[in-house]
Amino acid sequence: MRMKLKIFKDTNPIMRKKSLPVELPLNKEDKELLDSMLDYLIRSQDEEYAAKHNIKPGVGMAAIQVGVLKRMFVIYYKDSEENEVKYQLVNPRIIETSVKKCALENGEGCLSVDAEHKGLSHRFFKIKLVAYDALRDMDIELTARGFDAIVLQHEYDHLDGKFFYDRIDPTRPNTPLPGEELI
Ligand code: NI
Repeated sequence: MRMKLKIFKDTNPIMRKKSLPVELPLNKEDKELLDSMLDYLIRSQDEEYAAKHNIKPGVGMAAIQVGVLKRMFVIYYKDSEENEVKYQLVNPRIIETSVKKCALENGEGCLSVDAEHKGLSHRFFKIKLVAYDALRDMDIELTARGFDAIVLQHEYDHLDGKFFYDRIDPTRPNTPLPGEELI
């Protein structure tokens, strides 16, 4: 059963709250929520469907974005080689970060953010993350670089009530950090 999801916007104060650890093994409701979130992302990338339902395409969604304060998020997109990047991550922890930074040259977007926020959101270029992946029903360790690392950090930030624009320097929004890679 898929649930109908309502996306909370950044104007809602709940979005600034810190999400709480999820109890494992995952209960049925949490698994259904993750399935519904993943389903939403996949459909959001179907142009016809998105236009018809007036929704934005998304590559990631955290539970808090549908009003559930639990530390879990889903990711879905196809990488440059058309490989599916697909996860349902629960209780993720970033255990390693690189010195090198990176940012999306054209800025980040978010299903919960309607206003435009121009500038570079500074991120770690490489991260190592551990989590329980409900899609594969196993604990996983991911090493991600560049775009993949940015998506994971963006979603992870939601669990701590942060938005991509919190990472834009308002005094010099378009200036890369020393050695920062623009993607
Ligand atoms: Ni977001």
